[in-house]
Amino acid sequence: MLTRLLAATTLAAGILIAGVAGAAELNLYTGRHYQTDELLYSNFTKKTGIKINRIEGKEDDIIERVKREGASSPADVLITVDAGRIWRADDAGLFAPVKSKVLEERIPAEFRQPEGRWFGFSTRARVIYYDKAKVKPGVDIKSYEDLADPKWKGKVCIRSGTNMYNLSLMSTLIHHLGEAKAEAWAKGVVANMARPPQGGDTDQAKAIAAGECEIGVGNTYYLVRLMRSEKPADQEVAKKVGAMFPNQDGRGAHVNVAGGGMVKTAPNKEAAVKFLEYLASDEAQQYFADGNNEYAVVQSVKLENPALHQLGGFKADKVNIEVLGKNQPLAQKIFERAGWK
Ligand SMILES: [Fe+2]
Repeated sequence: MLTRLLAATTLAAGILIAGVAGAAELNLYTGRHYQTDELLYSNFTKKTGIKINRIEGKEDDIIERVKREGASSPADVLITVDAGRIWRADDAGLFAPVKSKVLEERIPAEFRQPEGRWFGFSTRARVIYYDKAKVKPGVDIKSYEDLADPKWKGKVCIRSGTNMYNLSLMSTLIHHLGEAKAEAWAKGVVANMARPPQGGDTDQAKAIAAGECEIGVGNTYYLVRLMRSEKPADQEVAKKVGAMFPNQDGRGAHVNVAGGGMVKTAPNKEAAVKFLEYLASDEAQQYFADGNNEYAVVQSVKLENPALHQLGGFKADKVNIEVLGKNQPLAQKIFERAGWK
């Protein structure tokens, strides 16, 4: 049924562009959908003449769909969020390696799968949220490791251990500290929890603002979203809650990506590579990152997002994003053993 729907879309597109000799198209499967996407895609079409047929879905659903469609999938490019999730798609054999000078030059090595099967196109840091009235960032708390310090007993809010963002963070802790220390950390954090894990990252910020906890963990863009919100209640939360980049004296803050790659069975391979390269262009980086208040992955691109800039500059962990996926099964086991629900 869904495949038939796509065929219908493609057919309609074919009629629309009838008369354009050799008009190419691209089937984009995406787990991201933001306001800026329209401009992102229409500019690509304007530049290249390649029409985009967009299939949107929830992050995991879109991956499952490509899997289910198998060799007959019309998918050319698959884009979604979180390196851990993209790694799962790669682990299932969905991506083909792309050799591209443009991508290699523009995207820092740590944000590319080493064989070119997938790429990060925007980044977000997973930071420590804190109560501005009670916590001195960099003094009271400096690192992810500090979240397990018994002095925070009953004061930490953080979401579920099954959440992909936490699994990715845990994967880096396994990488940097080793399994035993990473597990001790998880147990320490569980012992410090103000309440059982619940809600999303925004809910942790809200709980801090409500005085339920003093520190929490969340991605940068959720706080920026609150800062940019026109709702007084959101602004109130943003006023009370700060974001601190952890581990600035050491390895740097944990950074994750939104990204993707070319699907192995892509019918339009040339268009797929062109599109991935376009996503790394100055212009596309603006749209792609800004749609979700994220950072551009291309270092030379300057974003116009005053709220994001208010968070300040930071040192990022340079571990390759593939580690976030590779260590994920162990991260899940550790969370289970630690009782991190
Ligand atoms: Fe998110």
